[in-house]
Amino acid sequence: MNAIDKTMHSYARCVETSKRVRWDINKDVIQGRRFDTAHKFLPDGLSLADAFTTLSDDEKRFVSQIQGRTYANIFGLVERFINAKVLELSHDHWFGDQVALEALVRFSDEELKHQALFRRIDAMIGEVLPPGYRFDIDPNGVAHAVLGKSTWAVLGLTLDIELFTQLHYRQSIDPDTNLSELFRDVFLYHWKEESQHAILDELEWTRHDAGLTAEQRDKAVDELIELVAAVDGILKAQAKSDAAYFAAACGRAVDAAEAQAIEAAFLKAYRWQYIHSGVQHPHFGKVLSSLITEQQGQRIQAALATLQ
Ligand SMILES: [Fe+2]
Ligand SMILES: [Fe+2]
Repeated sequence: MNAIDKTMHSYARCVETSKRVRWDINKDVIQGRRFDTAHKFLPDGLSLADAFTTLSDDEKRFVSQIQGRTYANIFGLVERFINAKVLELSHDHWFGDQVALEALVRFSDEELKHQALFRRIDAMIGEVLPPGYRFDIDPNGVAHAVLGKSTWAVLGLTLDIELFTQLHYRQSIDPDTNLSELFRDVFLYHWKEESQHAILDELEWTRHDAGLTAEQRDKAVDELIELVAAVDGILKAQAKSDAAYFAAACGRAVDAAEAQAIEAAFLKAYRWQYIHSGVQHPHFGKVLSSLITEQQGQRIQAALATLQ
């Protein structure tokens, strides 16, 4: 099989799998269920429950529920720019490989559905948690800023994101009798479609990369670093907001020192969920290092090391 056939095969396989695994928000994911605050929404391996050292088990469960709501909001946000970039890239295939075009159209359709799912999840969690939660970051504003960077950088960030949904799913299937079955299904069904997205990100990233000069790629590496820093800025703001919500709604006094520790633990968990769990994915490292020089790799590692 030559290189082009192999690529065709992968786009074709994504279309085939996308058709086979396709799911419906109500029929498959929600199934008429509601959230129950007796359960954790995010598993300990994602919420980093152990990092919240001053909290009781009940309070750690509340933290996992706050983080679950933020999970829905962050995905709703990133999928806005991912979908816009996918639609833009589809232009390259309009009069070319129609299978590749179909794969990207399905990708886009799935991301629109996922955003609708995450809006539902946010509203459903809002019905069972105390009032006062805030998520003030505008998905369209973020999308405009992200799409101002080069396609190479946006695809690098997108592959990171779509690979970490796989790790999140694996964390969620660890035996934990107190994890919400409904949230477990959110991880399961999202992962089923994201697996194809990660393959398509890689195909599109390497295809696009082949047309760049060394100078363009070098600039794009800096833009990828800027995008990760921008994600970190969002995570910092939301960690602050979620820690303040926890302190206001947990039913006891939280002094300034503890409030600071709780905010730091939220930020550590969010950096793990939305940056490091994807960057540390072995496949991300493999694809990235195949595209960049060792020196560029060191630049990226040095930037990531500041986000600990
Ligand atoms: Fe998605
Ligand atoms: Fe996706």
